Amino acid sequence: MKKILVTGGLGFIGSHTVVELQAEGYEVVVIDNLNNSRKEVKISIEEISGKTFELKVADVTNSIALNELFEEHKFEGVIHFAAHKAVGESVENPVSYYQNNLSGLVSLLGAMEKQGVSNLIFSSSCTVYGATTDLPVTEKTVIQKAESPYGTTKILGEEIINDYAKHKDFKSILLRYFNPVGAHPSAKIGELPLGVPNNLVPYITQTAAGIRKQLTVFGDDYNTIDGTCIRDYIHVVDLAKAHVKALAYCNEMKQPVDVFNVGTGKGNTVLEVIHAFEHSNNIKLAYTVGARRGGDVEQIFADTTKVNELLGWHAHYDIADMMKHAWAWQQNLK
Ligand code: UD1
Repeated sequence: MKKILVTGGLGFIGSHTVVELQAEGYEVVVIDNLNNSRKEVKISIEEISGKTFELKVADVTNSIALNELFEEHKFEGVIHFAAHKAVGESVENPVSYYQNNLSGLVSLLGAMEKQGVSNLIFSSSCTVYGATTDLPVTEKTVIQKAESPYGTTKILGEEIINDYAKHKDFKSILLRYFNPVGAHPSAKIGELPLGVPNNLVPYITQTAAGIRKQLTVFGDDYNTIDGTCIRDYIHVVDLAKAHVKALAYCNEMKQPVDVFNVGTGKGNTVLEVIHAFEHSNNIKLAYTVGARRGGDVEQIFADTTKVNELLGWHAHYDIADMMKHAWAWQQNLK
């Protein structure tokens, strides 16, 4: 059985990916520092898949712990999720982003090299395209200067991998995620935002649950159909499945590194998301329109031709499913 190491495997995207890997017959080992996840997520994953997996509670920046893990197991590949991901927090504390996201990647490459493990799937982000006007964005769209330390760590992470793979026998796929939302249809795993959520969908579900008084729509004076920003929301289960496809592709690809956008190819405005939530769940949401949020791009959505054709991956769920599953998960959290 092929054994895969998943860093950050108890997090939002990581946990859903572990489920999909197990469903495809992979044996999984997870390393997670529980910084932004809970140990109980392991039990929920195992309930869904009916299979167990080994969890090492440690930080990916801890080379000693990583090397131990690589000595104990023969991994066929690594999926690297473990990273900080809040744009605002990265502006407040850039060093912790360089430390965690960049040192984590470098420690991982070191441990992989020591044991001759040469396949890596890396979590990148559409944030690398910045405020592009080249829409929908293809993988050839020019990468812009990052607007936040978080974005910098994604651009530099991609660059380190590209550079490393030039000099070593190494294969890597960079997945540029658009906006991952939703939850597993079983409602057993989903997003666990700590404190006040920054992202739209957890804020919506917490408002519907009465945890937040009302949602603020950040600006309605953008040049879009209803004046609110457009994003390409992708169901987390679809995104998880893209990682399994990427692993298989990694083994057969000719060049050392390849990059794929992972989105639905369809943009939705903030108001469309709110209305989809209300409609799918038969709930009236308390919201108000406020000022623009600094650093937000007006619109971004993916051209998914490459991921569709080369990975044979297609998004299955639509925005209504994403809202239904996100709400079922929120209700389960109570
Ligand atoms: C950002 C990053 C993305 C990162 C993600 C994870 C960019 C371009 N994107 O996505 O790379 O992976 O965060 O944290 O940097 N909104 C509201 N009210 C709210 C919250 C959000 O109106 O209370 C709006 C935002 O203005 C935006 C949309 O909802 O238009 C989505 O926002 P959010 O969920 O925070 O994701 P991004 O900022 O797109």
